[in-house]
Amino acid sequence: MTPVTKGFDASGHLRLAVQKKGRLADDTFDLLKRCGLTLSQSKNRLYARVQELPIDILLVRDDDIPALVASGASDLGIVGGNVFEEERAGGRLQDRVPMVQKLGFSRCRLCIALPKEKNYSGPRDLDGMRIATSYPALTDKWLADNGVEGAESVVMNGAHEIAPRLGVADAVCDIVSTGGTLDANGLAVAETILNSEALLIGGKLSEEKAKIAEALKLRIEGVQRSRDAKYVMMNAPRSAIEKISAVLPSADNPTILELAGRPDMVAVHTVCREEVVWEVLEELKRLGASAILVLDIDKMLA
Ligand code: PRP
Ligand code: ZN
Repeated sequence: MTPVTKGFDASGHLRLAVQKKGRLADDTFDLLKRCGLTLSQSKNRLYARVQELPIDILLVRDDDIPALVASGASDLGIVGGNVFEEERAGGRLQDRVPMVQKLGFSRCRLCIALPKEKNYSGPRDLDGMRIATSYPALTDKWLADNGVEGAESVVMNGAHEIAPRLGVADAVCDIVSTGGTLDANGLAVAETILNSEALLIGGKLSEEKAKIAEALKLRIEGVQRSRDAKYVMMNAPRSAIEKISAVLPSADNPTILELAGRPDMVAVHTVCREEVVWEVLEELKRLGASAILVLDIDKMLA
């Protein structure tokens, strides 16, 4: 990021709150970059300004993002579903902050985990337990919804995974991504209580800001479309075109090209809008296709 020279006094700019550092931040900055947006950072590193659109980025802690949007201090926010749902379950957002768009990255799960040696056969096994978590609202709601009696959440803001060993809790309810942290601490997942991904959240916008938000959303949608979409090319027997088209996942009508000197064969080109897995390639090969190429698409505007 290059330093910004002018002050952050542009009142008409859309404000977008994002995590300042962490896994979500890395993914968020990557998204903004893929949207073709360059950021110049302020000296105090609290703001960054987008050069291509009238957007100012607030660099904050992820836990603060829903409240910043709820209060109107920020127009939009990019936040983990875990944080957003915890704020909602805690009744701190009312209906002021709707989810605008699912972003499909920073996926993780919020899980209740127990020491590996404990047998787990269902929610009632959690009766009476103390559960260390920084998601007390979601944890308590899940316990109540599942008829667990006498259990309580113990709020900890870090190092949950050692709580059972320290004797301050019997279980934890924490974010699981690769599962490495639980494993290293002798814990195993008992229940997944939330599947989370990054979300774009927003409040009510003025007409002017809604236009800027729309431009941002369009770019995000373009990135999302091109993320799974692939350009697929192959040579195939002319007689197998129909079967081949049926195998390709959500593909456009293919372009069929003549192959010089091979009247029985054609080249097939198409865009697949879903992930093209190995099983699909194997099936294409069985249908007689050869020289199959699957290429990434950099940008796509439908
Ligand atoms: C989360 C969570 C675990 C870890 C799980 O912490 O609290 O510690 O990630 O990831 P894993 O399943 O890939 O091991 P995070 O790194 O977000 O930081 P925090 O504990 O400071 O919130
Ligand atoms: Zn952690």
